Amino acid sequence: MTASHDPICTDPATALLGWYDRNARVLPWRAPPGTATRPDPYRVWLSEVMLQQTTVAAVGPYFARFTQAWPTVAALAAAADEDVMAAWAGLGYYARARNLLACARAVAQRGGQFPDSEAGLRELPGLGAYTAAAVAAIAFGRRAVVVDANVERVVARLFAIDAPLPGGRAAIRAAADSITPEVRAGDFAQAMMDLGATICTTRKPRCLLCPLAQDCAAQRLAAAEAFPVKAPKAARPERQGRAFWIERDGAVWLVKRADKGMLGGMRALPDDGWSARGDGSGQAPLEADWRAAGQVAHGFTHFTLALSVAASAIPAGNPPGIGEWWPLDRLAEAGLPTLFVKAARLVLATGESGENDS
Ligand code: ADE
Repeated sequence: MTASHDPICTDPATALLGWYDRNARVLPWRAPPGTATRPDPYRVWLSEVMLQQTTVAAVGPYFARFTQAWPTVAALAAAADEDVMAAWAGLGYYARARNLLACARAVAQRGGQFPDSEAGLRELPGLGAYTAAAVAAIAFGRRAVVVDANVERVVARLFAIDAPLPGGRAAIRAAADSITPEVRAGDFAQAMMDLGATICTTRKPRCLLCPLAQDCAAQRLAAAEAFPVKAPKAARPERQGRAFWIERDGAVWLVKRADKGMLGGMRALPDDGWSARGDGSGQAPLEADWRAAGQVAHGFTHFTLALSVAASAIPAGNPPGIGEWWPLDRLAEAGLPTLFVKAARLVLATGESGENDS
């Protein structure tokens, strides 16, 4: 059965905005709460795209590096794809970095101005419904219903919405819409996010400190942690693959992955095609005296990968195909995705390149 309860207080927005005025986190893409100053749409957009990947704390250094290297959307639009992909490395889900660039270039074509409405933003390439709503509200003060995972949790609790996710999202969105104010839309959206991140946390919510506690239906049921209700997750299938560490003269052979597909456009170790064919063939790119360096596990959205890493040193020549010798002492600058950083760490920690064997 699906239930939902009205909050007792008719205006959670007022209570929440008052709380935000006193407790807003100071973040580099934000304007202080309650001020007429609008934040730079470029910084808001960039932060929102990054924050879809990970936490505020993890985004901090990436945001600082990006805005230092590319202070404006025009600068980002003019950047080389490889530089942006490398700067994104570690944030994961690399299709987002490609979308980021496509979007920056479309905005640069419009004279560097972001559209100032949710509908206009939605027309930009690679800019999804969540980002359009967030940027419209935060950068342009437009009323928009902004629902990320934090907001989802706050609203599911406030109204005790028990329809399991993902199906319950429509009810959560409608409830979020019902409490979104016409004014201070950006502050309201970010107040909901801050409340979710600092008070209405997944585990052990601090209901005693919550400005919405009197309004909260889940709190009345003494069951805040029970919301949002989630449908049981199907186990992620496991795939197997092999990656190859080929070393020569203090450098490792890196390839560039195909633009389309998993980790598209990123530098990588050569592998056996696990991503294209599901379970890899195990086939090495060249005949060599391969040593097993071990295995790394990595979680992707739809599967987990067990990647066996084989290492070898070659005395001369290049492996087949296009690639480059990357100096080992500059490996950190290669912008390898996390999967291959794990593989590199394994080889370097176990000293299994084979360089010293003969
Ligand atoms: N998560 C996503 N967007 C955010 C923002 N603007 N502030 C804090 N947390 C966020």
